[in-house]
Order: sequence, then structure tokens, then C-alpha cells
Amino acid sequence: MRIDILTLFPQMFDGLLNCSIIGRARERGLVDIRLHDIRGYTHDKHHVVDDYPYGGGAGMVLKPEPIFEAVESIKSELGLSAVPIILLTPQGRLFTQGTARELAGYQHLILICGHYEGVDERVADHLVSDEISIGDYLLSGGEVAAMAVMDCVVRLLPGVLGSEVSLVEESHIGGLLEYPQYTRPPVYRGLAAPSVLLSGDHGEIARWRRKQSLLRTAKRRPDLIEKAVLAPEDKILLSEAFEIKS
Ligand code: ADE
Repeated sequence: MRIDILTLFPQMFDGLLNCSIIGRARERGLVDIRLHDIRGYTHDKHHVVDDYPYGGGAGMVLKPEPIFEAVESIKSELGLSAVPIILLTPQGRLFTQGTARELAGYQHLILICGHYEGVDERVADHLVSDEISIGDYLLSGGEVAAMAVMDCVVRLLPGVLGSEVSLVEESHIGGLLEYPQYTRPPVYRGLAAPSVLLSGDHGEIARWRRKQSLLRTAKRRPDLIEKAVLAPEDKILLSEAFEIKS
């Protein structure tokens, strides 16, 4: 997959691109991530990218011209016309694991990071194919949102994660939160890891984990439990779990 990112602050991406899973995926050629400084697509001496909002009001608005030109230049370099062009904005549709799966199916993505008070609406109306928000809160720009989207998408690409099992069992993959994890030592400062996990009984361990996952999701994210497709055994586990806890 190739991901092109349009930003006013390319240096913000240094850490993410060079560490951990994304760093390794890039080294192994599984993803090609290119950063484009929006200022590089201006034509005036001072590389102005923003301007006062028409109609007045606080803050500045990102001008449309450098963003249109940057996207057109990337598209013509690749000779592609049908590529998802995504604007990161708090006005977008909410990003979920499902959105990540959908985006991971493309060969190429273009991500545009907004900044200041916003981006001239002609970009949303006539250039981009999608607008995405990573949550109902306001970041100072689209960069952190683009990093979150990219991180979720890249780890879903074939070959990126060592073990496919970790993908199957993680939070949100099956619509539930993940069960709690423990490692050595078995007792730390008097706090014991659940004995079932040390029992070697894989059937019991799987049952315990499923129950914890259901319980945790029901308590912390009732909205997810309502949407989850639960097997009859899950409903039994859930009622058992609630009896134990209360
Ligand atoms: N830019 C500012 N806040 C944002 C958010 N919550 N999601 C995506 N882009 C943003």
C-alpha cells in the first residue's frame, strides 16, 4: 500500500514512521508512506497557506489552491484517478475498526491534514472522497488523526503483524473489548494473576477470557454490547459474570 500525506507539519510524523510496527513495515517494503508539505505547493514568496475567513470570525482558514495542486500532482505522478482522498476533520464520519478494515483494502490512500479553524469547504465538496473524524473532540490539526488512521490501517496489511492470532483476539476486532492480560511473575506485591491462566486448561482459559471480555464490554461500553452478535453461550457467560460481580 502507498499512503500520501498532505500536511503543514511533516516533521510531526518522524516518530511514527520510524518506530515499531510502521517502522518495520516500511523497512520491509509493505507500505510506502510519503509526506508532502502543503507549503511546497504555494507560488508566492511567503508560501502563504491560510487566509481570513470570508464573513469574519476568529482564526484562519486553509486556502484551497495548494491542497488541490498537491493532490493533482500526486495523482498525475501515479497516473491514477480513483484513489480515496480523505480529509481528517472533526466534521467527518467516525473512524472505527470497520473503517480501518475498509481502508486497508485499497492500494493507495491520500490523507489531508486540516489545520487552523478549518479548510476551505471547496476542498471537502470538490476534491476529497471521504471525511474522517477520530472522535468527538477537537485536536489542533489533522496530523494526530492521520497518524491514528494510518497506524490502524497499516497493522491490518498482510504480513505486517507477526502473528495473525493477535489480530483475531484484539479489542474491537470482534466487536468486544479484549480480556485482561497477565504475565510473570505469578504474584507481584501480593497481587496474584488469575489462577485459571496458569492452569494449563485451554478450554477453561478460553471460557474465562470470553467471560471477561463480555463483562468488561458490558460495563465499560454498553453501546458495543448492544450491537454485538452474541451466541447463546455468551449470554449464559454474561449472566454468570454479572452474578459473580454483583
Ligand atoms: N482535526 C481536529 N480534530 C479532529 C478529529 N477529532 N478528528 C480528525 N481530525 C481532526
